[in-house]
Amino acid sequence: MIKDWQDKTVWLIGASSGIGRALAQAFAKRGARLLLSARRETALSDLAASLGEHHLALRLDIADEEAVIEVVKRITQQNIRVDSIICLAGAYEPGRIDELNSETQAAIINTNINGTFNVIRHTLAHLRQHHGQLVIYGSVAGYRGLPKGQPYSATKAALINLAESLYLEEKPNQVDVKLINSGFVDTQLTRKNQFDMPMMISAEEAAEAIIKGLGKSAFEIHFPKRFTFMMKCLQRLPNWLFFAIAGRMN
Ligand SMILES: NC(=O)c1ccc[n+]([C@@H]2O[C@H](COP(=O)([O-])OP(=O)(O)OC[C@H]3O[C@@H](n4cnc5c(N)ncnc54)[C@H](OP(=O)(O)O)[C@@H]3O)[C@@H](O)[C@H]2O)c1
Repeated sequence: MIKDWQDKTVWLIGASSGIGRALAQAFAKRGARLLLSARRETALSDLAASLGEHHLALRLDIADEEAVIEVVKRITQQNIRVDSIICLAGAYEPGRIDELNSETQAAIINTNINGTFNVIRHTLAHLRQHHGQLVIYGSVAGYRGLPKGQPYSATKAALINLAESLYLEEKPNQVDVKLINSGFVDTQLTRKNQFDMPMMISAEEAAEAIIKGLGKSAFEIHFPKRFTFMMKCLQRLPNWLFFAIAGRMN
């Protein structure tokens, strides 16, 4: 857990918009140095410049393993000690399975699953050296399968599973593995949805909830609590009851 962010270095992957951008602003106010990654370079460099002097924009497509290796090399060559890596990079398209094409399917799976694996595999050695923090962004969408959510929900379920194994494997190495599962947050991602999104919060509120959770020992950071409590109840239902309730969302 990290409670005091003054002079800590945080690598935010998926910082060019939404929750990542709001987190960058919230961390900068607490005195952290930020490494900002995503694919949109101008958005990153504008953000870095707006936060002050010590922040670095590092363009990265996490689906490209060679690019991940290259950025990690740049960071280590500059003797930067990263205290926390938060991987928020995520792709989403709403829709039913028969609306899905192979391009969208590959883009979502490559970023959300392969990309996250790329980040983890090439940063663990660095984090093990000084007992750093590794944070994976799942979603309550990964708790159970819901209509109109594929393949995004499947990738988030995979990330929840991945974070759990990683937590167990890395405990002896003292890497602080955490998982974020949030409900709806108002970003460009959720603006694609044409259904009601109950209890939606702002990206700034999400950033505050995340920073609060990073300062605690719990593995899972979930919010807003009223919504995630409801989703956790759904998660624990037997299949027959879950299908009866969730069938109404069709
Ligand atoms: N908003 C919600 O309600 C909600 C709920 C649960 C979970 N989440 C998760 O929260 C995370 C942040 O999402 P958001 O809502 O803030 O949406 P967002 O504004 O679309 O942010 C997604 C970020 O990921 C980056 N990204 C996407 N593909 C990438 C790639 N291949 N390599 C590197 N960066 C990539 C995007 O930047 P570039 O396009 O510049 O690369 C952007 O910075 C996602 O993992 C999402 O699944 C969101």
